Amino acid sequence: MARPANSPVPSGTVSGPRTTLKSPAEVRAAWRDAFRRVRAETEARAAHLSAEDQIVQSMADASPTKWHRAHVTWFFEQFLLVPHDPDYTVFDERFPFLFNSYYVAAGPRHARPQRGLITRPNGADVAGYREYVDAAVERLIANVPDTDAARVFGILEIGLHHEQQHQELLLTDILHAFAQNPTDPAYDVNWQPPRAPQGPSDFVNVPAGIMTIGHDGDGFCFDNEIPRHDQLIPEVRIARHLVTNAEWLEFMRAGGYATPSLWLSDGWAVVQSEGWHAPGYWRQQDDAWFLMTLGGLKAVDPAAPVMHVSYYEADAFARFAGKHLPGEAEWEVAVRAGLLADAFGIAWQWTCSAYLPYPGYRAAEGALGEYNGKFMVNQMVLRGSSLATPEGHTRASYRNFFCPPARWQFSGLRLAAFD
Ligand SMILES: [Fe+2]
Repeated sequence: MARPANSPVPSGTVSGPRTTLKSPAEVRAAWRDAFRRVRAETEARAAHLSAEDQIVQSMADASPTKWHRAHVTWFFEQFLLVPHDPDYTVFDERFPFLFNSYYVAAGPRHARPQRGLITRPNGADVAGYREYVDAAVERLIANVPDTDAARVFGILEIGLHHEQQHQELLLTDILHAFAQNPTDPAYDVNWQPPRAPQGPSDFVNVPAGIMTIGHDGDGFCFDNEIPRHDQLIPEVRIARHLVTNAEWLEFMRAGGYATPSLWLSDGWAVVQSEGWHAPGYWRQQDDAWFLMTLGGLKAVDPAAPVMHVSYYEADAFARFAGKHLPGEAEWEVAVRAGLLADAFGIAWQWTCSAYLPYPGYRAAEGALGEYNGKFMVNQMVLRGSSLATPEGHTRASYRNFFCPPARWQFSGLRLAAFD
């Protein structure tokens, strides 16, 4: 889950600055507006997709758009409405089984790899579910007693950030589906890649010594970003920019994907079993490389940051370059010092940090305690944010995490060096 649910007003750009809010009525209106904005963004992202697009599941890790739209709705029903609105009636008794993702304490659930088989409820049913829950949440925001408001709004805030996480997954998952389609469909024919900042591609010194990392208490965070704590930062330099496609092509031309000494043992096994010879979604036609994007198949831009690389590939590239991946503490100290040119909004950046609890971390009791804590093994931390991350969902302390072979996210890297 997230931090203790004790915030009386929305935080960050989800809802606007706290300082402008005065009366309880203004606080309630701000939460209502924040709720409407986030819910509308999900629908805006789904609106590019047909009913057929929205039911497809192209692999076990990727969920159908229709499922995302229903699951985030179930989250509000399960954790906000059922416990806090005594008059609320569940929309459909079958839905919790279908749309619970991984919350064991919230009851049994449908198998994740089979989400694409759920053609019914259909899209109209899911739209009706969303409208029903939207209305109930807005009633709760308006009518919750002042004595319960802080707790209710705290859970509402978690639900909003949860839905924003799924807004990103909605895009990454449909891109994976479209990448399996020989006609190279575009999610949005007008989509353009983000413009990476220009400037010197140098390495900059990270402030060394005992430095404090973790969420600093200003606005929302998930529970995996706290407790704030000290870390020893060595004398290290970090690249101001992300690794580019041109640099990755150099790695490929040098036989990077065919040189076992560059790879971790597990990574080399995946290279062999999956036949990797380029980043995810790259395709060679004649002598040119193309990349499947949200705008369809596009020529690989040498100047653009590389993305759709796994941790294994990022690690192998770093070894090829004679560098290493930064630790997540080094990354956070560097970004707080304003040293990184393209930390946010392009590609998540793999770090060499295992996804572990911060010192003193304890997951909360109950089903919401399953949000982050139970995944703290066998995954690596990514920092920053990507082109698919919604506005208001980006911060220096944010810890994303995926398994080392995963590369369907917008994942790239920057290098670090000790010399
Ligand atoms: Fe979820």
